[in-house]
Amino acid sequence: MRTVITYGTFDLFHIGHLNLLRRAKELGDYLIVAVSTDEFNALKGKKCEICDVDRMEIVRAIRYVDKVIPETSWEQKVKDIQKYNVDIVVMGDDWKGKFNDLRQYCEVVYLPRTVGISTTQIKGDLKGK
Ligand code: CTP
Repeated sequence: MRTVITYGTFDLFHIGHLNLLRRAKELGDYLIVAVSTDEFNALKGKKCEICDVDRMEIVRAIRYVDKVIPETSWEQKVKDIQKYNVDIVVMGDDWKGKFNDLRQYCEVVYLPRTVGISTTQIKGDLKGK
């Protein structure tokens, strides 16, 4: 069994998120999604519209997703890889090259982002209405 893990905020869940999760699952048999907590986002200077409990619940309901865990720090990736015997870390290519260090533990795959949509863009569009 090949275990895949990916990390993200998934605020205002959109088609780019869904495409990423579908393609991540296609790379293996079991998909874990680590969803950034509100506290971790605050550290990153990011504020969500949807609270972390609800974002986790939404991601958990996606049929490609087998398990949801909270993402609370930058450093947890190595621990997660070891704890869950992860074979592949998947990230969107906005992170290209940033997690190559993890290749000493498992495969790292950067998937191309869906063009033309992001949470930031949705927020911006709504502001203009
Ligand atoms: N993602 C994607 N295609 C998009 C938007 C996001 O593949 N159009 C992927 C990201 O690369 C990441 C995951 O979805 O692997 C979660 O991304 P997240 O940062 O939560 O979503 P964004 O829409 O990029 O949010 P923001 O604009 O706040 O950065």
